[in-house]
Amino acid sequence: MDSTKEALEIGQDQVVTVSADSVAIIDFDGVEVTDAKRYTIEWDAAAAQKGGYDSFMAKEIHEQAGAVADTLRGRLENGSLQLDEMDIDPSVLRSIDKIVVVACGTAANAGAVAKYAIEHWCRIPTEVELAHEFRYRDPVVTEKTLVVAISQSGETMDTLMAVRHAREQGAKVIALCNTRGSTIPREADAALYLHVGPEIAVASTKAYLGQIAACYLLGLFLAQTRGNLYPDEIAALMGDLEQIPDQIQQVLDSSAQVEQLARDMKDTTSVLFLGRHVGYPTAMEGALKLKEIAYIHAEGFAAGELKHGPIALVEEGQPVFVIVPSPNGRHSLHSKVVSNIQEVRARGARTLVIAEEGDDAVLPYADEVIRVPATRTLFAALLTVIPLQIFSCELATAKGLDVDQPRNLAKSVTVE
Ligand code: M6R
Repeated sequence: MDSTKEALEIGQDQVVTVSADSVAIIDFDGVEVTDAKRYTIEWDAAAAQKGGYDSFMAKEIHEQAGAVADTLRGRLENGSLQLDEMDIDPSVLRSIDKIVVVACGTAANAGAVAKYAIEHWCRIPTEVELAHEFRYRDPVVTEKTLVVAISQSGETMDTLMAVRHAREQGAKVIALCNTRGSTIPREADAALYLHVGPEIAVASTKAYLGQIAACYLLGLFLAQTRGNLYPDEIAALMGDLEQIPDQIQQVLDSSAQVEQLARDMKDTTSVLFLGRHVGYPTAMEGALKLKEIAYIHAEGFAAGELKHGPIALVEEGQPVFVIVPSPNGRHSLHSKVVSNIQEVRARGARTLVIAEEGDDAVLPYADEVIRVPATRTLFAALLTVIPLQIFSCELATAKGLDVDQPRNLAKSVTVE
């Protein structure tokens, strides 16, 4: 980005001729294209360099406070939530009776967080489905279905095919995307951009946080549009959300404990992750990170599912991360997770517990406690995943692996 910040969105089958003082675009039939959308790139060349970190992944993890602040920036005006890229008539948003979130990989884990938030705030039934599964079954999609497609790159073919299928069935599609001018937001009815800057490491980190923050914005926007929440409730939620970047920074500033843990565990061969509520997608994301960059067998489970099978995996010394919800939220949720820690520890697990500051109920059952600042149960998804990202990044680095370019993986999966 040393030379220009101006960009044009180019369509399929278009040819661009660039000369010193002009740009010309023609379509497949040789007809000049005059309406290519022009936009300004918000990031500079430094954003695409490692900036002193060992890897892009480490740098991107440490950019997350600013990234989430950028996703949230400028959305609340005169007490009302504004999503400028939201180009769907409010009456359509008021009429929808179902939401289906489609995405792959890390973006699908962000979508799983969206379900908890949207159903809680908006009372709209919300499904989350891997895009490739959605596309090749026969999903019930009507004109009253809102499909939310989440994609960092905006070019994931599985997600794009799901978007096309949904639109063919008459559904409205909103894309939550990081890459301006990419295909998925261009084919969607509306787009909400993450604004987290370029993500270069194959393993998604700051885009994941941006996706979750964007899901919260979408949920609150729907609640505002449909009248599910009062303006002061939305303002209070936004107020707490705006505290999150500082809290992310606190988690990042205390990363030394997790980094040491990762180095100490570099020869480990299996790690389990447990969580309930938004802790469940966090567990899934922690396991995905460890698989993809450290090549370690890892599984994320809903903690309540333990006794239905996975607990058989637990033997002496098995490391188990447990993501504990706030003790200030629903008591039953917190106490159930504390019981789950006890259950695995009684069978020999080494319990690595991520818990809110001041939550002493976990202390008798935790071999290691990793603290995160207190926030609402829903918003904790933006904090509790960070130690897991750091753990994977540091462990893969300690193993001498290429953290940014893991084997067999591509940053953007443009084939089905
Ligand atoms: O660009 P997208 O968000 O659509 O990519 C989806 C997945 O391919 C992506 O999140 C993948 O799972 C990452 N490598 C995870 O770190």
